[in-house]
Amino acid sequence: MSIEDKNAIYNVIFKRRDVRSFLPDPISPEIIDRVLTAAHHAPSVGFMQPWNFILVSSTQIKERLAWAAEKERQALAIHYEEERAGHFLSLKVEGIKQAPLTICVTCDPTRGGSHVLGRNSIPETDILSVACAIQNMWLATCAEGLAMGWVSFYKKNDVRDILQIPPHIEPVALISIGYTNEYPSSPILEQVNWEKRRSVQKLIFHETWGK
Ligand SMILES: Cc1cc2nc3c(=O)[nH]c(=O)nc-3n(C[C@H](O)[C@H](O)[C@H](O)COP(=O)(O)O)c2cc1C
Repeated sequence: MSIEDKNAIYNVIFKRRDVRSFLPDPISPEIIDRVLTAAHHAPSVGFMQPWNFILVSSTQIKERLAWAAEKERQALAIHYEEERAGHFLSLKVEGIKQAPLTICVTCDPTRGGSHVLGRNSIPETDILSVACAIQNMWLATCAEGLAMGWVSFYKKNDVRDILQIPPHIEPVALISIGYTNEYPSSPILEQVNWEKRRSVQKLIFHETWGK
């Protein structure tokens, strides 16, 4: 790999951000195709490729998804004590209605049969594989000059009902994609003093846990 290629990869890794504010400008189908092809080239346990992508651009369906996310956001506030609950409720945690496109990324645990190589030991490796595909989408959208937000605030059955997803399929993520004029230079949760990046050196052990 050339130095330029190497730098390009690290650049996109460090530049990529979770975004929750979008412009209404449409995205060309060719770009969406490239992003989904990048997703489809992610690693997966036993090469099971457990993902599907439901592309939602209908305002009506996006409004219903936004309702499911808003309901969950309100419900989750009970986990925090007074001041933190107020801070939590002030956070913008999704941009579903703003973004021109929402992609529901799903996981089919039955794909590849009951003995997918490697999945017998750790069943959740199917969901982990889908997360790898989503990270590829995140990097690809960033390289395309697009913004992407991962929304996980919802009850899975609400999303199943709205998108007519069968009961055995897991709706892993609602992904908002669009252009933005507010691409953050650091994580939004860091900017609003919710959480900060830990020192990687403190997370690395040598030989055994804690050392
Ligand atoms: C599995 C997963 C679920 C997430 N769910 C949400 C979410 O529901 N709402 C939201 O605003 N951000 C969500 N995020 C984005 C994180 O808040 C974000 O990645 C983190 O704050 C670090 O910021 P960065 O992605 O810009 O580096 C999620 C991220 C991951 C990996």
